[in-house]
Amino acid sequence: MAASESSQTRSTISLEVFRYRPDQEDEPTLQHYAVPYRTDWVVLDALNYIKDQLDGTLSYRWSCRMGVCGSCGMMVNGEPKLTCAAFLRDYYPNPIRVEPLSYFPVIRDLVINMDDFVRKLGEVKAWLIPKEEKPVSEGEYLQTPAELAHYKQFSMCINCMLCYSACPVVGHDPDFIGPAAIALAQRYNLDSRDGGADERGEAIFSHEGIWKCTFVGDCTRVCPKNVDPAGAIQQAKVAATEDWFRSVLVPWGKK
Ligand code: SF4
Ligand code: FES
Repeated sequence: MAASESSQTRSTISLEVFRYRPDQEDEPTLQHYAVPYRTDWVVLDALNYIKDQLDGTLSYRWSCRMGVCGSCGMMVNGEPKLTCAAFLRDYYPNPIRVEPLSYFPVIRDLVINMDDFVRKLGEVKAWLIPKEEKPVSEGEYLQTPAELAHYKQFSMCINCMLCYSACPVVGHDPDFIGPAAIALAQRYNLDSRDGGADERGEAIFSHEGIWKCTFVGDCTRVCPKNVDPAGAIQQAKVAATEDWFRSVLVPWGKK
């Protein structure tokens, strides 16, 4: 073993990991594990070490290990994080507590049920609704770089749901459509090829939509892809207010 590697693996770091099987246990518990400390390891590496070397019963989600798939989100010392991007060195020598994302039901250990989030994506119709249909023979729906720039930031979302776990409004009212779903709706509303804004409006402007947001901004702070969901929600509020004024002042001009 090389000298630098040897010095990296000599010490250990303590992980306090949330364990819960709701079908078999009344209450969650915290289980403590000592994991080799390496400066190039992330929390996900430590969980994989536990799974492979110490306790194969631990359950958690991950896939890409590179901040792309959005599946490894967990609470790390109380903060929503992608565990594949949370380095042990940022916590060492203190213990690291790993828990499931807040405000989601737990299926088992660190695995949450994301059905409600998927339902919300459906409610806001987070997909392109073409303004005009044309045959394939007529070619692509082209966009200028400026038109792309208009929504690109909101298209970077990886559905990791960290923003939901950071949002106190979601914590208070789980029916709130929430940051990512609204940011994704805004992504399509701002797309020059899209004509679905009115269809999305029903959910976005509903009682559970944008007006619930109190602009705490924690969703944007924790977002690993700089999507700025808080900004998307405020943009949608401004657009809704402009529409309302237009409908009152120029009712004959309303679409
Ligand atoms: S907006 Fe950011 S934090 Fe929220 S789901 Fe998308 S990538 Fe994750
Ligand atoms: S494992 Fe894919 S984002 Fe972390």
